[in-house]
Amino acid sequence: MVKKLNCLVSAGPTREWIDPVRFISNPSSGKMGYALAKEAMRRGYEVNLVSGPVNLKAIDGLFITQVETAEEMRHAMLEKFEQADLILMCAAVSDHRPVVRSKHKTKKTEFPQSIEMIANEDILAELGSKKEKFQTLVGFAAETENGEENAKKKLKKKNLDWIALNEISKKMIGFNSDFNEITLFSSHGKTIKLGFLNKEKLANRMFEVILE
Ligand code: C5P
Repeated sequence: MVKKLNCLVSAGPTREWIDPVRFISNPSSGKMGYALAKEAMRRGYEVNLVSGPVNLKAIDGLFITQVETAEEMRHAMLEKFEQADLILMCAAVSDHRPVVRSKHKTKKTEFPQSIEMIANEDILAELGSKKEKFQTLVGFAAETENGEENAKKKLKKKNLDWIALNEISKKMIGFNSDFNEITLFSSHGKTIKLGFLNKEKLANRMFEVILE
C-alpha cells in the first residue's frame, strides 16, 4: 500500500486570556485554513487540522485538534510536524499574551489601566528552524502596508518555501471574508498572483502552484 502524504494545517485565531471572562484575540474566521484542509483532503492527503476557536462547520471525515492559546497551538503543531510533508501555517496567532492570567474575574473597579504583555513564541519560525528537506513549509502574511517587502522578509527570516501575502487593507478582504486576494512568493524568487477569488478557489490554486 502506498503511504499517503501528510498535510498539517493551522487555522483561526488564538485567544490570550486576561482572566476567565476576558481575552485578547483577532478577527480571523478560520475560513482560509479550513478551505486549505478540505482541498488537501480532496487531493488525497492525510490531513491534520489544528484550529483556534472558530464558528465553522466540522469537516466530514476530519479530526480537528481544537486549541485556544498560542502556546496550545505551538504544542499541537510541534507534535504533528515531524510526520508532515506539507505544512500550511494559516492561523492568525496572537503575537503577545498577558504576563498574568488571573484565575478569578478581575472586578471592574480593580481592572488595571494597562496590561503587561509578553511575546508568544513564533511557531512558524520554530517550524522553519526544524524543517527537513522533504518538508514544504508555507506561511501567511497579513499586511496593511509594504506587503511585498514584509512578506519577502518573513519568507527568509522564518526559512519558508512559500509565503502567501494578503493585503488586508484592500477592499476589506482577508480576515473574516469569503474572499481574499493572495500573492505567493517562493524561496526561489517566484512571484505568483492568484488574484481576487473565494477562499475555496484560492486553496485550489495555492495547491496547484505549490505542488507544481
Ligand atoms: O510575523 P507575522 O506574524 O506577520 O507572520 C505571519 C505568519 O507567522 C503566519 O503564517 C502565522 O501563522 C505565523 N505566526 C506564528 N506564530 C506567531 C506569529 C505568527 O506561527 N507567534
